[in-house]
Amino acid sequence: MTDCDKIWVRVEHATKKFSTRKGEIVALEDVNLEIHEGQFVCLLGPSGCGKTTLHRMIGGLDIPTSGTIMIDGKVVDGPSPKMTMVFQEYSLYPWRTVAENVGLGLEMNDIPAKERLTEVMRELKLVGLDNFADSYPYELSGGMRQRAAVARALVTDPAIMLMDEPFGALDAQTRNKMQRELLSIWQETMKTILFVTHSVDEAVYLADKIVILTPRPGTVHEIYEIDLPRPRDRTSVEFAHIRKSLLHTIEELEAGNENI
Ligand SMILES: Nc1ncnc2c1ncn2[C@@H]1O[C@H](COP(=O)(O)OP(=O)(O)O)[C@@H](O)[C@H]1O
Ligand SMILES: [Mg+2]
Repeated sequence: MTDCDKIWVRVEHATKKFSTRKGEIVALEDVNLEIHEGQFVCLLGPSGCGKTTLHRMIGGLDIPTSGTIMIDGKVVDGPSPKMTMVFQEYSLYPWRTVAENVGLGLEMNDIPAKERLTEVMRELKLVGLDNFADSYPYELSGGMRQRAAVARALVTDPAIMLMDEPFGALDAQTRNKMQRELLSIWQETMKTILFVTHSVDEAVYLADKIVILTPRPGTVHEIYEIDLPRPRDRTSVEFAHIRKSLLHTIEELEAGNENI
C-alpha cells in the first residue's frame, strides 16, 4: 500500500436523489469517502446500490443533491483533466482506428499529430496493443477493446482513473488476465484508481482499500484495508479468509434489505 498523505478525492455527506414517475428514489445517502494519492480503491456493493451514481458524480457527470465531492481540494462541477473514466461498455468509436480512439483526448487538447502518435504508441505498448494501432474496434476481442479503453484513459496522463465495472462483460479467464494487467499498469504509472465492482473476488484481488456500500440507499457500511502482498494468490488461505469475511458481510446486508 502506498503511504501518502495527499487526498485526491474527498466525498463529504453526499446524498443523491432521483425524481422518477414512481416518486423519489434515494440512490445514495450521506456517503463519506477519501481516496489518497496512489491508492487502489474498490467500491463494492450489490447491483442498484448506487455505485455508478457515485462514479458519475466523482467524474463530474452528475452532481449530488446535497453534500460535496472534491478532487484535489476543489469542488467537482464538471469533468476535469485530472481524471478519466472507463465504463463497462466498450465506448470506442467504431469508425476510428484503435490509435485514433486512444488519441481522442489529445486531439481535443489540440496536441499536434506527431506528438499525439508518440503518446498513443506509448500507451498502446503499455496495454500490449501496439500491433493493433491501425485495427478497428470490430477487429478486436472484448478484452482488447477494454485495453484500448484503458489506453485512452491513460493517454492524457490523468492523476485519477475512475473505472466502473470495466471487466464486467468479459469471460472469467479474460477478466483475471485484465486484472493482472491493470495492476501492473497501476504499479508502473502510480495512478490513483477508483474501481467499481460487485465482485468480491475482484475487489480482494485488486484493492488496497475496499469501500463496502449498503443496498439502496447506498451508504458506506465498512472500509476494509487489504495489505496482502501482490501479486495476490487467489488460492491462498489468506485470500480465502478475506473473501469469506466480505461475502458474509454482503450477505448480511442483502438479507436485511428488500430493495434488491
Ligand atoms: N438517472 C436516473 N434516474 C432515476 N433513477 C436512477 C437514475 N440513475 C440511477 N437511478 C437509480 O439509482 C439506484 C442506483 O443506481 P446505480 O448507481 O446505477 O447502481 P449500481 O451501479 O450500484 O448498480 C437504482 O435504483 C437506479 O434505478
Ligand atoms: Mg452500475
